[in-house]
Amino acid sequence: MNDMATRRDFLMNTAAAATGLALGSSTTVSAEEALKTVRVGLVGVGNRGTALLGTLLSLPGVEVPALCDINEANTKRAQATVESKTGKSPDLYTKGENDFENLCKRDDLDAVITATPWEWHVPVMLAAMRAGKYGGTEVPAALTLEDCWTLVKTSEETGKPCMMLENVCYFENVLAVMRMVREGVLGEMLHFEAGYQHECRSYYITDSGELTWRGKHLAEKNGNLYPTHPIGPIAWWGNVNRGDRFVSLSSVSTKSRGMRNYAVEKLGPDHTLAKREYAMGDVNTTLLRTEKGLTVTLYFDMCTPRPYDLIFRVQGTKGLCMVSNDKAYIEGSSPEKDKWEPFEPYVKKYAHPLWKDLETEAVKNGGHGGGDYIVVQQFIEAVRQGVQTPQDVYDAATWSAIVPLSMASVAQKGAQVEFPDFTKGKWETNAPIPIQGA
Ligand SMILES: NC(=O)c1ccc[n+]([C@@H]2O[C@H](COP(=O)([O-])OP(=O)(O)OC[C@H]3O[C@@H](n4cnc5c(N)ncnc54)[C@H](O)[C@@H]3O)[C@@H](O)[C@H]2O)c1
Repeated sequence: MNDMATRRDFLMNTAAAATGLALGSSTTVSAEEALKTVRVGLVGVGNRGTALLGTLLSLPGVEVPALCDINEANTKRAQATVESKTGKSPDLYTKGENDFENLCKRDDLDAVITATPWEWHVPVMLAAMRAGKYGGTEVPAALTLEDCWTLVKTSEETGKPCMMLENVCYFENVLAVMRMVREGVLGEMLHFEAGYQHECRSYYITDSGELTWRGKHLAEKNGNLYPTHPIGPIAWWGNVNRGDRFVSLSSVSTKSRGMRNYAVEKLGPDHTLAKREYAMGDVNTTLLRTEKGLTVTLYFDMCTPRPYDLIFRVQGTKGLCMVSNDKAYIEGSSPEKDKWEPFEPYVKKYAHPLWKDLETEAVKNGGHGGGDYIVVQQFIEAVRQGVQTPQDVYDAATWSAIVPLSMASVAQKGAQVEFPDFTKGKWETNAPIPIQGA
């Protein structure tokens, strides 16, 4: 058994240790470990990388000695940020698309984080793990099943964890639901509904009339291209890979209108981007089923004019909450039979200990309501302690695999496709992510 497997099994089977990891509790960290400096190399310092850099530098005991980006101006800006916050100047890697390999080879890094475009996540993570570093990747971790398997295999072979930094798992309301689910408030879990529904068309076409890297993916692919924000929390609530697993999905997309309409509006009807075809349907709907009888409806809707909405319907045998609609109904405890009550009070009533511990720092130092801070903090703590990350490589592969699986199903008019078991049977004995009272 390799080093990582040993740690992983230890964590999965030892409630106290796992609790420390999942909750960021300081009780399992020795004074020596608490002080250990964690050195991170950051690859990709565009929008997201810049935000992650700010969060990294706000954490005690974290240094960023190396930065990489193909865009020199971006690295210089990030370098100046590190200099002004720490007085130290990080080394820059700007010599082309594969210079991250040289960053990964440095012997003074504990971890490498990538916030590059999607297609670069796997190459950076493989180079990091093969060079003996923890890998932290932005979402989604991979775009093909083959790459999902390669991430898993490489993590197992090298003994190095690879965590997809899924920040939505650490939103205040998501953590509160986690506690409600664990404490049985909603009964036995039955069904979830969620989606990444966020108008982002301005990120797809530049002012000079070109498709960005995101725009190119949407022009060429049709499926759920951004599933991890909604599926991460659901997988945790539903114990996916930890007592249950996804067995199949089917996926359908509407016709495509949003991208072309946007191109017409932005560039005029005669522009090539206003005349071309776009593969991505405006609204993609995916239905997933688990081995133990849970179902999930998942939406992907990033090309239509609409307000942001993750939905999060969480339904069990005793009742349900509709998180973004601020509604809940729990039989026997809601004030009136068959009538909604507000969900919001449950967020405070079931405040997660991790949230209570980190709220002040998280809100001050990280975007997305503090979720960004907690996901980075949890990654760094795992690196510091030398243990498995709270979201492991099996989560990264499973949550990301919805991209290629939904594309395959859409291409077959919604046919059901089988979901691979990246854990190779370990889901049956892996313990659920634990929760601990404050
Ligand atoms: N978790 C979240 O909430 C969240 C939010 C936004 C973006 N993201 C993710 O972050 C990633 C980056 O998104 P973004 O909005 O910052 O994009 P961006 O285009 O602003 O930044 C990407 C950066 O990567 C650089 N880059 C490209 N190829 C490279 C390579 N081979 N080596 C080194 N650098 C390279 C680019 O020059 C650019 O600076 C994406 O995976 C996206 O999905 C996540």
